[in-house]
Amino acid sequence: MGVTPKIAPSMLSSDFANLASEANRMLDFGADWLHMDIMDGHFVPNLTIGAPVIESLRKHTKAYLDCHLMVTNPIDYVEPLGKAGASGFTFHVEVSKENWQELIQRIKSKGMRPGVALKPGTAIEEVYPLVDSENPVEMVLVMTVEPGFGGQKFMPEMMDKVRVLRKMYPSLDIEVDGGLGPSTIEMAASAGANCIVAGSSVFGAPEPAAVISLMRKSVLENQEKC
Ligand code: DX5
Ligand code: ZN
Repeated sequence: MGVTPKIAPSMLSSDFANLASEANRMLDFGADWLHMDIMDGHFVPNLTIGAPVIESLRKHTKAYLDCHLMVTNPIDYVEPLGKAGASGFTFHVEVSKENWQELIQRIKSKGMRPGVALKPGTAIEEVYPLVDSENPVEMVLVMTVEPGFGGQKFMPEMMDKVRVLRKMYPSLDIEVDGGLGPSTIEMAASAGANCIVAGSSVFGAPEPAAVISLMRKSVLENQEKC
């Protein structure tokens, strides 16, 4: 399989008042990416950060900023996030049915990597056209909780989506987000996920580095089995 593990602590669980030091702490602990949850209080019932915070953080780190857009109008965020220094731009398929081609094209033109996310209630078939397109997304994010809040329970039934995707696309980045940690990583990794978002299990651990390395090991071991 041509995919590598990416462990992405969700900064939603960090101390936002000390974002730069929290980010660098996670990178020192072995994080590959930093997952940035951008919520507009409309697509989800929570409000977090936007481009100004990404811009501030970018001054303190060169890390890959994996931005997850839980917003109703993702296209409005492409230009500001590109300027701010975002690396990945993952939009939700539920709000992009009419304009995903334009979205992908604009995201790439701003030097970011496009990804598509789907909520638990959305069928996996919805993302196929975006992966099969001539100008495709480069990652699919399978939500394993209802988007909006950290600390929720992992939904194992979402692993069917991951399995189907991995079978169809052996070298696609497949990300899972919500409720991942030492007790659920095996389910996700054995289904074929390689990008692992984890908030509360990493930030709440006495030794975050141990949790990060355990999750990486699980992804690697499962890839060897393929
Ligand atoms: C939820 C966010 C997640 C969240 C994950 O809407 O997309 O990234 O921070 O948090 P945990 O790992 O605590 O479920
Ligand atoms: Zn997220």
